[in-house]
Amino acid sequence: MQQITITTPDDWHLHFRDGEMLHETVPATARCFARAIVMPNLVPPVINAKLANEYKSRILAARPKGSHFQPLMTLYLTNQTTTQDIIDAKQAGVVAAKLYPAGATTNSAQAVIGIEALYPVFEEMQKQGLLLLIHGEVTENHVDIFDREKVFIDQYMIKIVQAFPDLKVVFEHITTSDAADFVLASSHHVAATITPQHLLLNRNDLLVGGVKPHNYCLPVLKRSTHQQALRNVVASGSNKFFLGTDSAPHAKHAKENACGCAGCYSAWSALELYTQVFDELNALDKLEGFASFYGADFYGLPRNTTSVTLAKQSWTVPESINLADGEAIVPFFAGQQVAWKIV
Ligand code: DOR
Ligand code: ZN
Repeated sequence: MQQITITTPDDWHLHFRDGEMLHETVPATARCFARAIVMPNLVPPVINAKLANEYKSRILAARPKGSHFQPLMTLYLTNQTTTQDIIDAKQAGVVAAKLYPAGATTNSAQAVIGIEALYPVFEEMQKQGLLLLIHGEVTENHVDIFDREKVFIDQYMIKIVQAFPDLKVVFEHITTSDAADFVLASSHHVAATITPQHLLLNRNDLLVGGVKPHNYCLPVLKRSTHQQALRNVVASGSNKFFLGTDSAPHAKHAKENACGCAGCYSAWSALELYTQVFDELNALDKLEGFASFYGADFYGLPRNTTSVTLAKQSWTVPESINLADGEAIVPFFAGQQVAWKIV
């Protein structure tokens, strides 16, 4: 196939950041996605409806002229989150709340210690129909970083979905066959997002021939057998897995650092890279479900009614994106060829 037209997709997991950065990140996503689930791990985090609404206004103000892009807002759960916060969030149009185990990733220091303590909050979310989005990694020092997702499933995920059978849970940016199997075995209230980097790369792409800081994200890339399991599951066309880029910009100097930040800024190439993966898998007929249908269906939102066309036409991702304030960001796949291009 040389060209494919699909219903306009949505990005069910990304990081826009805030302030000046919005003028870079919002247009990059609005170029091809109609909606996006906006992660709340700002500094300070988005912990209530008021902060979510204010953040939403700043995102809307950064849209390109004429764009109809819609941000979907989320709450950052902490040990101080109350059931009233959930009720207020629902009323304000917030669609989900994000569970970061404290210390799991970027700006998660104020997040949750002792997940069971949040069960009353999960109960209210279940009642209000707010989705629970989970960064599924344990943070204990003694647990090997490559095992943290699997241990989280065993210690927490199984219990959460058992305790709240009617709570919609998204296992975010899954990286292992264990997570894919868990989601497949769970009820229709459990789904997962998958990033382009976890479909395209494995840990060799992070560590062989020198450390590649721009391929460093969390959860960290895993061995190729896990990558293959994720590829199999998207090629299968299962409606439990949908597009979430986890596009997460950090300044070049913060990535190329003795203590480099986690995150791949993929917004400028993500849809094209997903298309490339589905093409490699001979599964282009499954792309539209993954990118444009299953996420909306799971969230209980209408599918988009416009479309986007991609052509099999090679282009090179820029080496660097220069921001107005003089900072630079190295985008995901910088300097590399992508096989598909938006027409
Ligand atoms: O790689 C990541 N970057 N993983 C996350 O969970 C957070 C994100 C960020 O905010 O930079
Ligand atoms: Zn994320």
